[in-house]
Amino acid sequence: MSCINTILETMQFLVLFIYYYFEAFVMIFFPTHKNVAGEIVLITGAANGIGREIAIHFAPLGVKLVLWDIDEEGNKETIRLAKINGAKEVYAYRCDCSNRKEVYKTADLVKKEVGDVSILINNAGIVTGNKFLDCPDSLVEKSMEVNTMAHFWTYKAFLPAMIASNHGHLVSIANSTGLHGTSGLAVNFLWAVGFAESIDVEMRGLKKPGIKTTIVCPYFINTGMFDGIKTKSPRILPILDPEYTAETIVQTILQEQLYLVIPRSLYVITALTNYVLIPGGFRPLLSLANCYYRKVIEQDNPG
Ligand SMILES: NC(=O)c1ccc[n+]([C@@H]2O[C@H](COP(=O)([O-])OP(=O)(O)OC[C@H]3O[C@@H](n4cnc5c(N)ncnc54)[C@H](O)[C@@H]3O)[C@@H](O)[C@H]2O)c1
Repeated sequence: MSCINTILETMQFLVLFIYYYFEAFVMIFFPTHKNVAGEIVLITGAANGIGREIAIHFAPLGVKLVLWDIDEEGNKETIRLAKINGAKEVYAYRCDCSNRKEVYKTADLVKKEVGDVSILINNAGIVTGNKFLDCPDSLVEKSMEVNTMAHFWTYKAFLPAMIASNHGHLVSIANSTGLHGTSGLAVNFLWAVGFAESIDVEMRGLKKPGIKTTIVCPYFINTGMFDGIKTKSPRILPILDPEYTAETIVQTILQEQLYLVIPRSLYVITALTNYVLIPGGFRPLLSLANCYYRKVIEQDNPG
């Protein structure tokens, strides 16, 4: 009997596997394109860089924008640019996302003044520099608080309303190092990616298909966060343009894709470094991809 069950379970697995694979393949050609008019979109770290660009790209889509940052002057400029680009309603709040109490307090204010956030974009981030041992303890803690823990608190604040209405979208702007771990503090992003994946699985378990997740893992972007950064392999691993990156992020959200890895060459490198089952013959290929990626990162980040 248990043998028959095993065969049945294996067959069920194979049928579902082929079905979902086929579905994903068809979606490449006929992607979803959701209408976000009327949605409340909250962006953390909206006062500069990618956060600001994402706000600008959402502006013409009829959403209500909620901007969080510690940089109030920068937020004012984002409001101005969002309005020029068609935003009708933009609300800005000073909020230090690394401070749990401040996140909860500001979230309550947003719920009262604007409504329930339906698209949450965790984008605020800080950079710590290159080498783990050179990084002061206080900065190690801060980077965990901003790049990782802040995501916990914003989810806690806004996810319950999404669950109640079975409607929402959780977006995590992480980093390609969240897939490969290339420096000590890349662990921030490994956590951020793992956390977003885990909650996505939880939502599926809770039968809340209306709550989507998008995890964004870009290589270096020319925003100033990594000032003076250069790439030794501009064709394979180019430094990304912020406007292009934000546009691609917004399209990926509209298409309800789970992952976005840019530049796209990183899909291949990720597949080779992370997911290839490694029978002996593949090992040289795997270590080649790993060495290549690490070498480029090393060259792009002179100590
Ligand atoms: N720039 C890159 O090369 C790059 C590459 C991969 C991923 N990322 C990620 O993209 C995101 C945006 O990066 P960016 O390049 O636009 O950086 P940026 O420095 O231009 O902008 C980050 C924003 O976050 C805000 N911020 C910082 N700490 C905050 C806090 N505690 N509370 C609220 N706001 C805070 C800053 O004031 C700033 O406006 C970050 O999460 C970063 O890790 C950046």
